[in-house]
Amino acid sequence: MHAVVLVGGFGTRLRPLTYSIPKPLLPIANVRQLEHLVAGLGRAGVSRVVLALGFKPEPFFEAFPEGLCAGVDLHYAVEPEPLDTAGAIAFAARDAGIDSTFVAMNGDILCDLDVASLVAFHRERGAEGTIHLTPVDDPSQYGVVETDADGWVRRFVEKPAPGETESRVINAGTYVLEASVVERIDPGRKVSIEREIFPAMVADGHLAAMATEDYWIDTGRAETYLRANLDLIDGSRRLILSSVGPQAHVAATASLVHTVVGENAVIGAGCVLVDSVVLPGARLGDGVRLERSLVMGTVGDGCDLTECVIGADAVVSAGTVAKGVRIPDPARSSW
Ligand code: GDD
Ligand code: MG
Repeated sequence: MHAVVLVGGFGTRLRPLTYSIPKPLLPIANVRQLEHLVAGLGRAGVSRVVLALGFKPEPFFEAFPEGLCAGVDLHYAVEPEPLDTAGAIAFAARDAGIDSTFVAMNGDILCDLDVASLVAFHRERGAEGTIHLTPVDDPSQYGVVETDADGWVRRFVEKPAPGETESRVINAGTYVLEASVVERIDPGRKVSIEREIFPAMVADGHLAAMATEDYWIDTGRAETYLRANLDLIDGSRRLILSSVGPQAHVAATASLVHTVVGENAVIGAGCVLVDSVVLPGARLGDGVRLERSLVMGTVGDGCDLTECVIGADAVVSAGTVAKGVRIPDPARSSW
């Protein structure tokens, strides 16, 4: 079976980290997010993953030079221009010659979904498409789904206005689709699966949905990207990964509390790092204090950073004390 993974977004909410590395290639506890995701697809029997790429395809070619990710064959479908979610799925499916049931998924989620059980549910229902659902406290930033008792979708509302729906169950971003869904999507124009194709399938009574309560997170914001990392080192997930990556240099007097340190990162003497992620190649001087921060660049001696996001090219001068700052500042992003 094929899976199409959407990896063409701009990663705006994770800037400045995504200035140098596309969101799906950012590590989560030292394993690229895309590898976590493809490993899950591989376990469900997916033998070929089609990456729906637009923005910055080159880093993906470089990251997987053998055309293999987590042991699964990769095919690259590079859009001439961003075609939005449905446009990208259709472009990728046509490019890879997909002509039977396939999986499609957003590239910025991490979850413990057993994809094989979603495929089985889809087949039992005889649906044209089946969406994975998860409950959340605040559904306003998601696609909100209302279903009936048999698992058929009655309503799909993307980013609902307050009061528009009572449902707290959202589209979790993994779909099983029949090849006929691709025929619903016009080639060469921007089409949103959430705003156009799913509502049309609901109107036809062809869209099913299966909710699960297992681990799920959208890693697209700084706060959730941080949490996704920490959840993998502290036993919140079934899988527990090591918190310190290979070839990292951590001074003996540094103290790491609930913190991930990436490959080749350097942590100076007397640093105290709490609930933070130090990304591969980052350099921290002596006596740096980090709390709930994400660091890719260089941080000078004695800095004290809380809820900060430091990009790859940034050099934070010694002694800087800051809270809630992004360097360089991508203006529109928020924590
Ligand atoms: N190739 C390609 N081309 N990929 C795209 C494009 C495009 O034009 N636009 C978006 N993507 C990719 C993004 O990289 C991401 O992996 C996925 O499509 C979804 O886009 P987001 O921009 O992250 O959407 P969202 O997080 O606001 O909402 C989506 O995910 C929620 C769950 O996390 C929707 O699917 C919601 O319904 C859903 O609840
Ligand atoms: Mg997203």
